[in-house]
Amino acid sequence: MSSVCVQSITTRRSQKLVQAPGPNAEQLQQLLAAAVCAPDHSALRAWRFVLIEQQNVGALTDLAIAAMRRSGREITEQKEQNTRKWLSSVPLLIGLAYKISHDNEKVPEIEQTLSMGAAVMNIQNAAHMMGFSTYWSTGLGTYTDEVPEALGLDTLDYRFVGFLAVGTPSVKLPPAQRPDPATLTTTWQP
Ligand SMILES: Cc1cc2nc3c(=O)[nH]c(=O)nc-3n(C[C@H](O)[C@H](O)[C@H](O)COP(=O)(O)O)c2cc1C
Repeated sequence: MSSVCVQSITTRRSQKLVQAPGPNAEQLQQLLAAAVCAPDHSALRAWRFVLIEQQNVGALTDLAIAAMRRSGREITEQKEQNTRKWLSSVPLLIGLAYKISHDNEKVPEIEQTLSMGAAVMNIQNAAHMMGFSTYWSTGLGTYTDEVPEALGLDTLDYRFVGFLAVGTPSVKLPPAQRPDPATLTTTWQP
C-alpha cells in the first residue's frame, strides 16, 4: 500500500499543456483540503488561493501581459502568442499567495514561504493522484504589483507566488528524468 502511495508522488511531473475538463467542484474542494494539510508553524493559516475559472482566464491573460509590459518587461509578439495559446485551453488557474506575518519572531518569513510551497506541492500531488496535471508558473506578472492587486492581494500584506494551471493533460509525456537522491544526500557522523 505505502509503495503505491510513494509511486503516485514519484510519477508526478509538471505539464504545461492542459485542457478541460478541470476538477469539478468536489475535486477542487479535495485539492484545497490537501493544500491546507501543509505543515504550518504556529498555525498561521496564511495560504490564499484565488480561483480563475476558464471563462476568466482570457481576461487574466490580458491583464498579466499588459501589467508585465507596464512594469518594463519586454514581451515579444511571439512570447505573447505562445502565452495566449497556452492559456487558451487551461480550464483552471489558481493564484497562489500567503498573508505575510510581518516581524513574526517565531516564524521567520522563510518558514512562511516554505509552508506555502508545501501547500502548492500538496495540490500538485493530489491533482496527479486524480489524473490531472498541474504547472506552477511565476510568469504572468507574478512579480508586478498590478497582477496580485487585481486579484485582491495587497502586496504590502500578501506575498504572491504565482499561478498553478490545473487540468487534464493534453498529451501523454514520458516519465521525467529525476536525479539519484544518493548524489544529494550525506549521512552525518559525529
Ligand atoms: C515557484 C516555482 C515557479 C516556477 N515558475 C516557472 C515559470 O515561470 N516558468 C517555467 O517554465 N517553469 C516554472 N517553474 C517550473 C515548473 O513549474 C516545473 O516545476 C518544472 O518544469 C519541472 O517540472 P517537474 O515539476 O515535473 O519537476 C516553477 C517552479 C516553481 C517551484
